[in-house]
Amino acid sequence: MSKDFVNLADFTAQQLNSLLERAVADKVLFNQGKLPVTLERKTLAMIFEKPSLRTRVSFEAAMTQLGGHAIYLNNTDIGIGTREPVQDVARVLSRMCDGIMARTFSHELVEDLARYADVPVINALTDYSHPCQAMADLQTVREHFGDLDGRTLSFVGDGNNVARSLAIACAKLGMKFILSCPSGYELEESFMEQLPPGAASIIADPKLAVCDADVIYTDTWISMGQEDEKQIRIRDFEGFQINDDLLGAAPSDVIVLHCLPSYRGYEISDDAFEAHAGTIFDQAANRLHFQRTLLNVLIAEGGIE
Ligand code: CP
Ligand code: NVA
Repeated sequence: MSKDFVNLADFTAQQLNSLLERAVADKVLFNQGKLPVTLERKTLAMIFEKPSLRTRVSFEAAMTQLGGHAIYLNNTDIGIGTREPVQDVARVLSRMCDGIMARTFSHELVEDLARYADVPVINALTDYSHPCQAMADLQTVREHFGDLDGRTLSFVGDGNNVARSLAIACAKLGMKFILSCPSGYELEESFMEQLPPGAASIIADPKLAVCDADVIYTDTWISMGQEDEKQIRIRDFEGFQINDDLLGAAPSDVIVLHCLPSYRGYEISDDAFEAHAGTIFDQAANRLHFQRTLLNVLIAEGGIE
């Protein structure tokens, strides 16, 4: 039983698969007005070191829909590691709240919170990973195609936190992951080697990378915290934009996903974005649906079995 949701690699394929199936089923129940209220009088503490739209709103709305409440904590106010040690923050919040969600720069900080807290801790994005995003994304793929097994997700862009979580989620849930990026922006060799053989590959040429894709995925070239590298990254990523030219090299039924926020004219053209806005906003909505199930499983049911 795992009390936290921090690293996708810690879960078995079966655990992630059950969570996904459950999220799909719960979404149907919720839309029918039949999802039980299971978190009455429960509180989620939400720690943010970085900005957010989707993550904050989806966690807060999910808590409301389950009968509970969420508290937004800006780290400039609480100062983990500066005003107060992480161990103390974790122990205080464990006595006042029923769960902790954290978006931090350092991945180790979320792992430390999980270690010192008695209540569930959820990784809501670190510099290393974004597991809730990847699970909501594969929920979107599963709902669109009806299955995941044997499908290919081609990620055209930076080998970043989102790419890392997608690579693991794809490997666990039977999809093939391809990363296409400029030299120097790949996922680490040591990380790629931990994935099952054949599950993930790097194909530098974006057109070659998308030719058999079921899903083309992109994310910003400049993640939160990398603003100083903006000019150099824009130069390095030239030729890696999702646009009509690149989409012309992909199968006609390909779907495009973007975790958002998007920077039109950089990683995706305005035309490509608007042509695929349907799936992109279904994907955004699934942050709410996946996380509502996750909160239910972790807080109401005691963890992931
Ligand atoms: N995709 C995502 O995590 O969005 P926010 O940064 O707005 O939360
Ligand atoms: N890679 C992006 C994801 C934003 C949701 C970032 O870390 O800023």
